[in-house]
Amino acid sequence: MILKRIFLLMAAVSMLGAQDDPQYTNDGMMRLPANYREWVFLSSGLAMTYGPAGQTNAQGNPRFDNVFVSPAAYKSFLKTGTWPDKTTMVLEIRDSDSHVSINTGGRVQTSLAAIEVHVKDMARFKGGWAFFGFDKSDKAKLIPASANCYSCHAEHGAVDTTFVQFYPTLIDIAKQKGTLKP
Ligand code: HEC
Repeated sequence: MILKRIFLLMAAVSMLGAQDDPQYTNDGMMRLPANYREWVFLSSGLAMTYGPAGQTNAQGNPRFDNVFVSPAAYKSFLKTGTWPDKTTMVLEIRDSDSHVSINTGGRVQTSLAAIEVHVKDMARFKGGWAFFGFDKSDKAKLIPASANCYSCHAEHGAVDTTFVQFYPTLIDIAKQKGTLKP
């Protein structure tokens, strides 16, 4: 009886961990992680000059990007200084505006411009990681390995092709654990 309860509890706990694992359609598209806004927030950048969604919108307003990671991957990073298999990172790009409500000199985030995903799935992708670009859709095609996403991240990402040097809660952990790229 007790054993059965322990077993059920363990099964429930392992399902909790797996609920954020990457999901794909039968034809190889990735499904947008529906609850990524409840994941761990890593950082925002304003007018970062890279990526297809550009640094400014058509009106010349700089764009923000917000980075989120699945909670299980975040916890694992705190222990090891690097990313486990099935890590999913979401880059959410938003337009900005000024002079909204009581704001005069600052910038606030407004509508969603694009969502990009960086996912580690060792069994599925050569090199372990892949990129997907979601334009307002909940499914996205794999971005081919020839795209500059892969080369810039491989060359400049501080830990395991990710930009940990821009994530203030993680950079010191990577330093402590000695996982920064030399
Ligand atoms: C010239 C370099 C460069 C290129 C090219 C680039 N990125 Fe990035 N990427 C960055 C930087 C810098 C960050 C850090 C986020 C921030 O602070 O804005 C980042 C962060 C990300 C993240 C958050 C997770 C992580 O890996 O740190 C995703 C997702 C992402 N980029 C997707 C893409 C996709 C998709 C493409 C190609 C279409 C792409 N990037 C091309 C520089 C680049």
